[in-house]
Amino acid sequence: MTSQANRPDLSNLWMPFTANRQFKSSPRLLAKAKGMYYTSTDGRQILDGTAGLWCVNAGHGRQEIIDAIAKQTAELDYAPSFQIGHEASFRAATAVARCMPEGMDRIFFTNSGSESVDTALKIALAYHRARGEGHRTRLIGRERGYHGVGFGGISVGGISPNRRTFANSLIPGVDHICHTHDLEKNAYSRGQPEWGAHFADDLERIVALHDPSTIAAVIIEPMAGSTGVLVPPKGYLERLRAITEKYGILLIFDEVITAFGRLGASTASDLFGVKPDLVTLAKGISNAAVPAGAVAVRREIHDAILAAAQTGIEFFHGYTYSAHPLATAAVMATLNIYQQEQLFERAAGLSGMFEDAAHALRGTRHVIDVRNIGLVAGIELEPRAGAPGARAAEVFHKCFDKGLLVRYTGDILAISPPLIIEENQIDQIFSTLADVLNTVD
Ligand SMILES: Cc1ncc(COP(=O)(O)O)c(C=O)c1O
Repeated sequence: MTSQANRPDLSNLWMPFTANRQFKSSPRLLAKAKGMYYTSTDGRQILDGTAGLWCVNAGHGRQEIIDAIAKQTAELDYAPSFQIGHEASFRAATAVARCMPEGMDRIFFTNSGSESVDTALKIALAYHRARGEGHRTRLIGRERGYHGVGFGGISVGGISPNRRTFANSLIPGVDHICHTHDLEKNAYSRGQPEWGAHFADDLERIVALHDPSTIAAVIIEPMAGSTGVLVPPKGYLERLRAITEKYGILLIFDEVITAFGRLGASTASDLFGVKPDLVTLAKGISNAAVPAGAVAVRREIHDAILAAAQTGIEFFHGYTYSAHPLATAAVMATLNIYQQEQLFERAAGLSGMFEDAAHALRGTRHVIDVRNIGLVAGIELEPRAGAPGARAAEVFHKCFDKGLLVRYTGDILAISPPLIIEENQIDQIFSTLADVLNTVD
């Protein structure tokens, strides 16, 4: 516990995606984490209902990862990754490739989801140019999509508060297909909604509007997380794949949240049986112990870019910390845990009980929808008149006071616990939520 006298000065840190003034008037500070729990600075145990930020899939403080990082930093703390390499980076790439759909085995390392998205968009553009189709420059995202905060990511992203301040600086020519949320038809769907495959046909409208020869890639989250858990309707991803294929457009799945077991499979692509051309990764790739990300690329795309290069360097892109030794050590240790403990299968096994517990909230005060897949649930609340987001914010605060970490976006609560969660902890999450919902106006 931190005594009042030892409290840090809170004024220097400008906190990301945070109501800074409100937070600093009433801070919520975490001190430690182990397994399924955080410990707050006032000594309380907080059940982690969100795997940090959808990223600590193997639970907190995993000794194998700690040891791997410690060993690596003692042996080789840093190695430049331009024109020189270190063995762990190649091993980690092979380990990541093994988790990807067949043939998507060329791996480019980044440090975050935002960097993975920018990297994937650049690979898509480079690929078309390498094949003599440099006129394909248009990128297509989806309304309500979240692809991080780089200029590439916010351009293809579809969350308006993230875009509006930068409206004149977004990548030109980007367009968006419609989102897939429809409360009237699909409220309280369990797993994939039955209705809504036709939302994919919106891509035909965009293709007709711009001409397919101008379009490089479509990027979507196979399950949209940050906007509030939108599960793809049955048949939707298949149709999107068919349309992109028909017009020679690359399909990018942003799997920063969905990969590494969150949906009860290695990737969403695996779960839904739809193979994109590129997959963006981060979060669960390293259990968040060290910042890490990657893009998994279909081999032919990689090969085409290499074959077309005139100079020695085939792709002018990379980060000082691409394949940082600590990150690659954490990635290998993490993927090892996932495999040894069969955590993706564990998530799949728990998902039925998790679904029942989430849907038991139907009929609870303020709840207008519950949706779920794998170990993810979204609980949509009726917004307070004239104060959108206020009700969910209050639920978040009250849950934290009662020892439960949840996430909210607008008036949607999102639950995405570590995959090591036990059934009684799933019960605790949803019963705490029910209690809290009954106490807020
Ligand atoms: C689908 C998706 N893409 C990209 C990102 C951005 O990742 P990062 O915050 O690591 O840059 C996120 C983060 O939540 C995400 O959910």
